[in-house]
Amino acid sequence: MNPTVCVPRDSGAVSLGAGEVADAIAAEAGRRRADLTLVRNGSRGLYWLEPMVEVETARGRLAYGPVAPSDVASLFDANFLAGGQHRLALGPTAEIPYLRNQQRLTFARVGVTDPVSVDDYVGHGGYRGLERALAMNGAQIVEEVTLSGLRGRGGAGFPAGIKWKTTLGVEAAQKYIVCNADEGDSGTFSDRMIMEGDPLLLIEGMTIAAIAVGATEGLIYLRSEYPDALRTLNEALAAAARKGYLGANLCGSGKAFNLEVRVGAGAYICGEETAMLESLEGRRGMVRFKPPLPAISGLFGRPTIINNVITLASVPVILERGANFYKDYGMGRSRGTLPIQLAGNVSHPGLIEKAFGVSLREIVYGYGGGTASGRPVRAVQVGGPLGAYFPESMLDLPLDYEALAANGGLLGHGGVVVFDDTVDLAQQARYAMEFCALESCGKCTPCRIGSTRGVELIDQLVAGNRESAQVLRELCDTMTAASLCALGGLTPLPVMSALKHFPQDFGLAPEGTPSGSALR
Ligand SMILES: Cc1cc2nc3c(=O)[nH]c(=O)nc-3n(C[C@H](O)[C@H](O)[C@H](O)COP(=O)(O)O)c2cc1C
Ligand code: SF4
Repeated sequence: MNPTVCVPRDSGAVSLGAGEVADAIAAEAGRRRADLTLVRNGSRGLYWLEPMVEVETARGRLAYGPVAPSDVASLFDANFLAGGQHRLALGPTAEIPYLRNQQRLTFARVGVTDPVSVDDYVGHGGYRGLERALAMNGAQIVEEVTLSGLRGRGGAGFPAGIKWKTTLGVEAAQKYIVCNADEGDSGTFSDRMIMEGDPLLLIEGMTIAAIAVGATEGLIYLRSEYPDALRTLNEALAAAARKGYLGANLCGSGKAFNLEVRVGAGAYICGEETAMLESLEGRRGMVRFKPPLPAISGLFGRPTIINNVITLASVPVILERGANFYKDYGMGRSRGTLPIQLAGNVSHPGLIEKAFGVSLREIVYGYGGGTASGRPVRAVQVGGPLGAYFPESMLDLPLDYEALAANGGLLGHGGVVVFDDTVDLAQQARYAMEFCALESCGKCTPCRIGSTRGVELIDQLVAGNRESAQVLRELCDTMTAASLCALGGLTPLPVMSALKHFPQDFGLAPEGTPSGSALR
């Protein structure tokens, strides 16, 4: 049999040269008349080792990386097709500690299969969740999802089962499933990795959601900056439809589900679910008042389930293995696993799927290996641009919705961005306000005007006007209490956490000292 060589098609790997490496391997194989099957797989998420090439051998998958096109001839010389020794050899992929120590449920197949092959997907356990769902009624499926404890991974952490139950309970001629694939949070990429590495998992999750609530149409709202994901999703959608997993008669069940991709409008606010509905309906992305809830009156006024990519991609394993299996992972009210995205100034950036409860310290040092610069870690921002900055001394915090909220932060979409001791937290706080001012939809005053005033106040504070600290604090209180959506409502988190934990960056004395006492 031909040896199989896998080179990722994931855009992170491609940006590091995976396309050129794949071309170089094909060309070298041609020159040497070596037969091989080249598969463009998803990335394993070990980004510092990308482009990571894997070879299927009698000893299992063996990895080499990071591979440059100029390394390819020497890999052939070393007989890498049979697992030969080479300075880039990493050993069996599954034994690389970064991967071995994870608990991959959602990402179990990413990097293993050909993302657009239904046969490969089914051969690796795919569509078992849908098979089980097709034998259940809607209420039973919703009950299974509710019991699993699955909460929305898009940021708000709302229980998926409750949302689904609401839509199931509404009588309507047309219901929709909308996948939020806008993935606007800085430092996050897990949605993209699923869509490029195992898109059929998302398609299966959406199909199960559709069967559960009686929806026949689905849309994936994909951020415009993801052209590779668009290509891969469209290939996977066509492949699923060809095999009867989408369309008028799902798997011969008589049930229908049609699914398409819509490319987003390129604004952070279009990830907010009601602004996304506006965008999908062809208007500018402006936040809608709630109620009505989208679950009751969403897209075109019809009952609509809106879930994040990872929420929906977590559903197949819940249906396949049962709610209790999934619920056994995690802590407190945070059940299951979280795909954590580690980025910023860190030696080993990448995707780490772990049960909720893992500490930030284990992520930043255990997996990440500390900073890439070799300097001390000073701050970590968790949860995207609206997340808090935590100092190094707080890294023992567990990644859990409630624990982070109790400490003035949020988990968001699971992004962790690392900064070394050269970071200026006053500038980071300023950036948070500036980002809000740039991305504000403009519908409410606290966010539209407050964010611009916030930038000015931080500038005044840094210039030495200490009274600005109290005004900034009051402005943040107003934004928190009176903004219509979480963009204005949560921008105070990064600002206030920077002020609280790093007052010296604003020219203020640390908390507890007389001149710093104005900082609460
Ligand atoms: C400003 C803003 C941006 C958001 N961006 C995203 C996003 O990019 N992706 C996402 O899934 N949810 C995003 N959300 C959350 C959505 O409004 C919504 O809660 C989510 O799509 C629901 O799915 P879930 O319950 O599966 O998380 C954003 C919210 C706000 C306020
Ligand atoms: S908080 Fe900002 S983004 Fe949200 S509705 Fe108000 S103006 Fe729009």
